[in-house]
Amino acid sequence: MNERDSDAVAAMLRARGYRIVPDEDDCDVLLLNTCSVRDAAEQKAIGKAGYLLARKKHQPDFVLGILGCMAQNRGAELLDRLPDVDLIIGTQKFHRVPDYLDNLRAAREAGIPVGAAIVDTEAEAGSQNTIRDHLEGPVEKVCAFVSIQQGCNMDCAFCIVPTTRGDERSRPMADIVRECEALVARGAREIMLLGQIVTSYGRRDYAHTGNVTPFVQLLEQVNAIPGLERIRFTSPHPRGFRADLADAFARLPKLGEHVHLPVQSGSDRILKAMRRPYGRDRYLEIVASLRAARPAMAFSTDIIVGFPGETDADFEETRRLCREVDYDMAYVFKYSGRTGTPAATMEGQVPEEVREERNRVLLEDLKAGSLRRSQALVGTVQEVLVEGPDKTGLRFMGRTRGNRATVFEAAPRLVGRLVPVEVTRASVSTLYGHLAPAGAGLQSAEAAVSL
Ligand code: 5AD
Repeated sequence: MNERDSDAVAAMLRARGYRIVPDEDDCDVLLLNTCSVRDAAEQKAIGKAGYLLARKKHQPDFVLGILGCMAQNRGAELLDRLPDVDLIIGTQKFHRVPDYLDNLRAAREAGIPVGAAIVDTEAEAGSQNTIRDHLEGPVEKVCAFVSIQQGCNMDCAFCIVPTTRGDERSRPMADIVRECEALVARGAREIMLLGQIVTSYGRRDYAHTGNVTPFVQLLEQVNAIPGLERIRFTSPHPRGFRADLADAFARLPKLGEHVHLPVQSGSDRILKAMRRPYGRDRYLEIVASLRAARPAMAFSTDIIVGFPGETDADFEETRRLCREVDYDMAYVFKYSGRTGTPAATMEGQVPEEVREERNRVLLEDLKAGSLRRSQALVGTVQEVLVEGPDKTGLRFMGRTRGNRATVFEAAPRLVGRLVPVEVTRASVSTLYGHLAPAGAGLQSAEAAVSL
């Protein structure tokens, strides 16, 4: 989501004649887009901003802006720590950044002393419609991000997002589909639909038709776009996985065999304390329904360890759930108290050492599981969408339908194409292989998984 927001701001600035430079040391204006989900993210951004501000000593015109969630969360209070910051722009005001920058620079050029920073963290009706495509010409990436909604109306006890991102607001379906069509016309082959809680998309704006939720209606329309190969989405909420969405995976071929399904905890007691409206049995039922629709389905998740009140037994429940689901990948977070959230003042805060240890243990478990699942794919032929050069620039990378990063030798003309890759080697997170000879039958991951 943050990447998408940053891209949108960059595109708006480019349209105004700003140039994006590859090296941050060479810029006149630097905008830091920030995250508030955990305190560590905020501290990192504050540290980075402090370091950058030292540049004003030898580059007095240098402009530093702080955008996004931390700007929203802390507002003008940031100036206590970072008095020389020029812009503090919240999550509903990304589209105002170019105007604010222009004003700031015009004032400076006219010699008008600009004292205080510009701070704008107001809510703005309709701001969800401003994070849309702003680019002209070919898209640079095979996979394009499309924002479908802003904000979140859930009240998970740990989470600051409803505060930083505001109420749930969806973009009109027709606008989203038009944007996807335009991206595909310009070369995108995969679309990632983005929102804080995508499964709730449009629930107050569109009717369910024949028990099909607006989110699934949107998936159907995007699936129908010619030339588009794949659709992904993040993040959904387990609550949104009713029969219509499992059925969409059975019906819509452009949905891959991968779902990111944030579980947060495997303990019913902790899920309740977190105010997550499902238990482990319901979660496992959802996993089973998706594997019934697509036997090769790969899952990833988000897990918080050390939520207030989490005992060793609760933590063991989480480990057990991970074994049962058999995840491909998980983001594990040590619980971080966020001021203003209910969990921050709950009893039974878990000491840092315990959170650290649970984090380590769970990561070990998950690593072993990921490696086993990767290695089960060795010897199979996977359909890979070629994204571009890999990190070394020597080979190419793409993703399987199950969202596994895959590295292989290819040619630039294959970028954006679906190719069969025979997997010869696997690490925890990456598959390695070579292009399979033309005509080699694609073997779905199903065969490997059922071994
Ligand atoms: N502490 C730790 N992790 C958190 N997350 C959200 N809030 C917190 C918090 N206070 C995690 C959740 C969420 C992911 C984006 O960040 O797992 O799904």
